[in-house]
Amino acid sequence: MAKICVIGSCSMDLVVTSSKRPNAGETVLGESFATVPGGKGANQAVAAARLGAEVTMIGRIGDDHYGEAITNNFQINNVHMEHLKPVTGMETGTAHIILAEGDNSIIVVKGANDQVTPDCIEQALDTIRSSDMVLIQQEIPEETVTYVSDICHKFNVPLLLNPAPARPISESIIENATYLTPNEHECTVLFAGMSTAEALRKYPNKLFITEGSHGVRYYDGNQEVVVPTYKVEVIDTTGAGDTFNAAFAVALAEGKSLQDSVRFANRAASLSVTKFGAQGGMPTRAEVEESL
Ligand code: RIB
Repeated sequence: MAKICVIGSCSMDLVVTSSKRPNAGETVLGESFATVPGGKGANQAVAAARLGAEVTMIGRIGDDHYGEAITNNFQINNVHMEHLKPVTGMETGTAHIILAEGDNSIIVVKGANDQVTPDCIEQALDTIRSSDMVLIQQEIPEETVTYVSDICHKFNVPLLLNPAPARPISESIIENATYLTPNEHECTVLFAGMSTAEALRKYPNKLFITEGSHGVRYYDGNQEVVVPTYKVEVIDTTGAGDTFNAAFAVALAEGKSLQDSVRFANRAASLSVTKFGAQGGMPTRAEVEESL
């Protein structure tokens, strides 16, 4: 069983569905409202656990009702929580999501996720060192991402950085990461002044650009490879990227080839968009294998 350590955000998603996205200064009437577990870190942890990995989450929640709900959700999904701690007097992170016109818009309020500091990482060093893969995103402080990338490099633990949401990052983080999985927008922020083709050639078998319904692009050392995705009926794309990253990490940690790992991850991500909510459609291992 692959051992995956996820370091990142745990949030509650407050989701409004509407036929129209409001313009600035405009009020529209929505159709529904739901509160569901989310946060890129938590989503990736749950997705990896459903795919059969042994997953430990390193994160921080508030000492509030949302924090409790997130803890219950991890328990149901078999995610280890010894390094998930509540921060006294802080609120759990929230994501304010509008689902309208076939896509989502999200504002994240980080709350306790900002307390995922290098000190939290120090407390979890044994877990990190014994992992087959560490998975990290950018809804936590940048200094923590830097710290984790140094630790993983030092102890030779493969690191998959999902650079979302986009922000410029240091050359050392890029060098220390084993795999980088930006989408097209994040790629332009990461490699400002470089074309996509140049960035891909600079980081063969390391940079994997997710291009939504067009699939995933990388450079294998000889040529650009595009692994196509699967056509499905889309209900909600929230969490598709998280499912991709988790499935990619699980497949790589199990020793699958790069191309097979991308294919497995594409399949998992395509299944995830067929249901409502970031985690609602995240498939089990059996569901991915049956559909492959
Ligand atoms: O990647 C999707 C996630 O991003 C949502 O669950 C929301 O929490 C935002 O952080």
